[in-house]
Amino acid sequence: MKSNTLNRLKRLALASAVGLAVGVAAGPAAAQQKLKVGLMLPYTGTFAALGNAIENGFRLAVSENGGRLGGREVEYFKVDDESDPAKATDNANKLIKRDQVDVLVGTVHSGVQMGLAKAANDNNVLLIVPNAGAGAVTGPMCSTNIYRSSFSNWQPGYAMGEVVAKRGHKNVVTITWKYAAGDESVGGFKEAFEKGGGKIVKELSLPFPNVEFQALLTEIASLKPDAVYTFFAGGGAVKFVKDYDAAGLRKTIPLYGAGFLTDGTLEAQGASAEGLLTTLHYADGIDNPREKAFRAGYAKAFPSAPAPDVYAVQGYDAGQMLATAMAATKGDAKKFDVIHAELSKATIDSPRGKFTLSKSGNPVQDMYLREVKGKENRVVGIASKALSDPSRGCKL
Ligand code: BEZ
Repeated sequence: MKSNTLNRLKRLALASAVGLAVGVAAGPAAAQQKLKVGLMLPYTGTFAALGNAIENGFRLAVSENGGRLGGREVEYFKVDDESDPAKATDNANKLIKRDQVDVLVGTVHSGVQMGLAKAANDNNVLLIVPNAGAGAVTGPMCSTNIYRSSFSNWQPGYAMGEVVAKRGHKNVVTITWKYAAGDESVGGFKEAFEKGGGKIVKELSLPFPNVEFQALLTEIASLKPDAVYTFFAGGGAVKFVKDYDAAGLRKTIPLYGAGFLTDGTLEAQGASAEGLLTTLHYADGIDNPREKAFRAGYAKAFPSAPAPDVYAVQGYDAGQMLATAMAATKGDAKKFDVIHAELSKATIDSPRGKFTLSKSGNPVQDMYLREVKGKENRVVGIASKALSDPSRGCKL
């Protein structure tokens, strides 16, 4: 081949390579790049079942969108955060720096959430929180790149404080794990309960994730309060409810809790949980077609998984919120102003019932009063209608 023909071919090859590169970086082909979603969740330890349910729910929402969000095929990256706050920054950086994800979805534990939210803010990455209720995340740390599909720890606690005061209890002991979720859940309860004329006799706690409850149960028995309010979740909730019953307290001192006490746990708690009253933004027996379709879709997609619980719903709604955001930006996960404007006016059609998002990115939602009947948390009524977290310290 003559050398000028060879040079022309080389120039053509170079031009087409450059054209391709430019096409990928700008034009419509940008929408063809995969949307990298980083799931930072607990897959081991006391919250492992919660992490799995959230992932299932999220994947279901994405697959109902044909596996694409904002026109981009979704690709998953996963990190087990082990519910360990000390590892939160390193784990977040695996997704942000190593895997270069476009969106973070996580996590469950409030202490881990603080590290994850800081990493998302420092690196300008969109974050959807599918569980952890840490008040600071939609309080002082609130930002146009952070949204929650779940609840603030304050919300179920506050709703239950109103219920317990209305039921005429005057002296209550609280018991929880000593970390942000427990403290804030008790804080919300106390705020409403004291407003309603009640008094907290003693605040008991033990370090997360300890489950040696015996000494504290003995103390409750000797304090003889009118009732007990508690926050525990996952494996710890199973053990607490069984131990409370075994200590003979269930029949004499009514136990109330944030709904995590009995959600996703009833199979293991058995008769020990029967009749317990809790408050939460999800329940069995919500009569809405969205809920029925969600349950059917979940059972079909994950036939060997346990029935969907509040965590599966929160994962599903994280997927729905991301779908809404990405549709508005045509798949650009950095357009935080557009995402904030869109999610601030959106109504999320959730299996829990429709909800909106506050300016701080936290759900404004009904809190159900639920009663354990057999293997279900049946709706008894609405404890608090369209309850909005105060989001103290949020400047948005
Ligand atoms: C939390 O740490 O925020 C949390 C964990 C499990 C259930 C609910 C809240």
